[in-house]
Amino acid sequence: MSIKKTESYEEALEKEEQKEEQAQKSGEFAQFDDVAEAEKEQAARDAQAKADLELPPDPEALLEVRHLKKYFPIKKTVTGKVLVSLRAVDDVSFKLRAGETLGIVGESGCGKTTLGRTILKLHEPTDGQIFFEGQDIAKFKPSKMRPLRTQMQIIFQDPYSSLPPRSTVGGILSEPVKVHKIVPPSEVKDYVLKIMEQCGLRDYYYERYPHEFSGGQRQRICIARALTVNPKLVICDEPVSALDVSIQAQIINLLKQLQTTMGFTYVFISHDLSVVKHISDRIGVMYLGSMVEFGDKKSIFENPLHPYTQALFSAVPNPNPDVKMNRIVLKGDIPSPANPPKGCKFHTRCPMAKEICSHIAPAYKEYEPGHFAACHCYPQGDVTESVKAVSLSDNAEAN
Ligand SMILES: Nc1ncnc2c1ncn2[C@@H]1O[C@H](COP(=O)(O)OP(=O)(O)OP(=O)(O)O)[C@@H](O)[C@H]1O
Ligand code: SF4
Ligand SMILES: [Mg+2]
Repeated sequence: MSIKKTESYEEALEKEEQKEEQAQKSGEFAQFDDVAEAEKEQAARDAQAKADLELPPDPEALLEVRHLKKYFPIKKTVTGKVLVSLRAVDDVSFKLRAGETLGIVGESGCGKTTLGRTILKLHEPTDGQIFFEGQDIAKFKPSKMRPLRTQMQIIFQDPYSSLPPRSTVGGILSEPVKVHKIVPPSEVKDYVLKIMEQCGLRDYYYERYPHEFSGGQRQRICIARALTVNPKLVICDEPVSALDVSIQAQIINLLKQLQTTMGFTYVFISHDLSVVKHISDRIGVMYLGSMVEFGDKKSIFENPLHPYTQALFSAVPNPNPDVKMNRIVLKGDIPSPANPPKGCKFHTRCPMAKEICSHIAPAYKEYEPGHFAACHCYPQGDVTESVKAVSLSDNAEAN
């Protein structure tokens, strides 16, 4: 059974609730052995992940991330053995085609920045694969990464701290061009002036210093710096969060315009859903390091499947004054990624949580073509079967 519309989702929910009541009455979960079940579930997931990692990369994807993990050790023994890890990125998989924008959303601390930095290998991945143009860069050494650095750039949130204060704009923008020998030395200045023009920066800014500019202008300089090396993939980590609303729109439009003219692929990280809606082709929703829902913008906004996505998107203001907002307010704090809840990580805050949610993690399954979610509200099959459904070969067919 597949979920096509919100109506059928509600019907499915009702059925699930009835089943749930029956299960509770019959004491189905009373004897539940969490440890044994978790081990069984983990073994099945590991087996599936192993099989997925053997698959060839999708030739149509510029970026393909498979079962990516980034765990930060937070407690070690004196001998250096890791006792406790913080699971900042926990088994994330997705694909992105060239020229598309993937919006990554989720509450503070859910792992958006860590995901972006791990994709760029600014953090060493704990496990998983990162295919960039068909090459798995996850285990590349820094020397092997160096030639790829120009093709993958990042724009940070804070345009104030990300520019060196003692260099002129010309100096900041010329440096990567010279280091990576993008054009012959005699052509560097003309090349930089052309990039500045594309980013809406006047040519006389060339001799000026970052402190002479406003936040919006500084972010334009940061964007220009990323563009100087002609990248294919640009990770934008909250690029407009520190700016005024009117300036935000200008920067977003600049990014969109550059994507059209230069064909960039963006991973756009933001907690501002209106901005994400405006710029993204696909959207990934993260919670406590996991991707809980992924799909194209239309399906995610019009038919969000995961209760977390529904709550998150219920807060987006509707410009139509006749449409009543049904805001879903989530209760409770975000649990620690160092000690995430058992079963579904969202069950401690989920308004639809059932008994099973605190015991078994839901499978990340495709419910509509290209639309994935991890939730027990939808058909799961038995644990082993549902884990099989995460297969990236299914994912490949969808895309
Ligand atoms: N270098 C690090 N060492 C240890 N823990 C880290 C490190 N970097 C991030 N974390 C932790 O990983 C988790 C995810 O952090 P991250 O910065 O990726 O979240 P985020 O979604 O980008 O949050 P925000 O929206 O506030 O920017 C957090 O719990 C954070 O404390
Ligand atoms: S699986 Fe998670 S998101 Fe889905 S109903 Fe249960 S607690 Fe909520
Ligand atoms: Mg962040």
